[in-house]
Amino acid sequence: MALPVLDERLAARLRSRLAEVEVALDGHVRSEADFVTTAARHLMAAGGKRFRPLLVLLAAEAGPHPGSDEVVTAACIVELTHLASLYHDDVMDEADLRRGADSANARWDNHVAILTGDFLFSKSSELTADLGADAVRIQARTFTRLVEGQILETVPPPEDADPIEHHLRVVAGKTGSLIATSALYGARFSGAPREVEEALAAYGEIVGSAFQLSDDILDIASESVESGKTPGTDLREGVPTLPVLLARGTDDPADARLHELLDGDLTDDARHAEALALLRAHPAMDRARSYVVARTHEAKDLLKVLPEGPVREALEAFADVVATRTA
Ligand code: FPP
Ligand code: MG
Ligand code: MG
Repeated sequence: MALPVLDERLAARLRSRLAEVEVALDGHVRSEADFVTTAARHLMAAGGKRFRPLLVLLAAEAGPHPGSDEVVTAACIVELTHLASLYHDDVMDEADLRRGADSANARWDNHVAILTGDFLFSKSSELTADLGADAVRIQARTFTRLVEGQILETVPPPEDADPIEHHLRVVAGKTGSLIATSALYGARFSGAPREVEEALAAYGEIVGSAFQLSDDILDIASESVESGKTPGTDLREGVPTLPVLLARGTDDPADARLHELLDGDLTDDARHAEALALLRAHPAMDRARSYVVARTHEAKDLLKVLPEGPVREALEAFADVVATRTA
């Protein structure tokens, strides 16, 4: 991911620490079994924005020890956890493309993808133990929330629940949680004061949800060359997203055809293409984008706990990048 940084010295520090994280990650994804190393390196080598490690490093700038070994370890933990979750997610979503490469389930099979995800998660757990019992507890809670969010996505909301609120809860669990933890780890392991840690965790939670909502908008709006994924995968798999829920909730007669398509079988290629085209042109897309922008403003407000300066500006810019991302 391009560094959303205004101050050149800060950018240089972050670049050099990200390079450290990359070298460390490369060491952590190795196994004594060559095939396991190949499968575990597969998605990491295919690319990725390193959004979560970057947030750890950026949040760490709020404390007196931004370059500590613990900060680098924390950056590796969040990326390995994220990678693990992608292997599992692609199995659940039956996705065949990730980061412009075959997903692990497409390249090998579901068994390899699931167990490689477990391997990466074990590696991140081992590293978490190096950071002490509090980190293990935070990591376990984060994992609980990731899994709860991911499970709740697969079931309809309870009868009396608002589908959009339910969806936002799912998004906060499956994505907001780990990004909140990234900001929290950065603050904690650089020795930032407790109130800064709490504000940055809350900021991360909102930015994380906004990141997922932007991702879901891009799943509809973008071509696979930009996103490295197959467009319309959520739609095909029946995974609810904010633009679809907003478009679904209208009683405009002009939406009758879209509603009919959304209610039917979207694994059919022609119906899927028609629904995707109608959604791309639907005002729900802009409503969803505006919601994301409003959430990032909320996140930026939380940064007032930090002194004015390059670090706060970089975190503000980081939230803006999420709201306006195109890949
Ligand atoms: C991607 O969502 C998926 C997640 C953000 C979380 C997945 C979480 C799990 C599978 C549970 C945790 C498992 C482990 C091993 C840590 P998406 O499908 O909406 O996004 P995509 O477009 O990138 O596929
Ligand atoms: Mg997916
Ligand atoms: Mg998914």
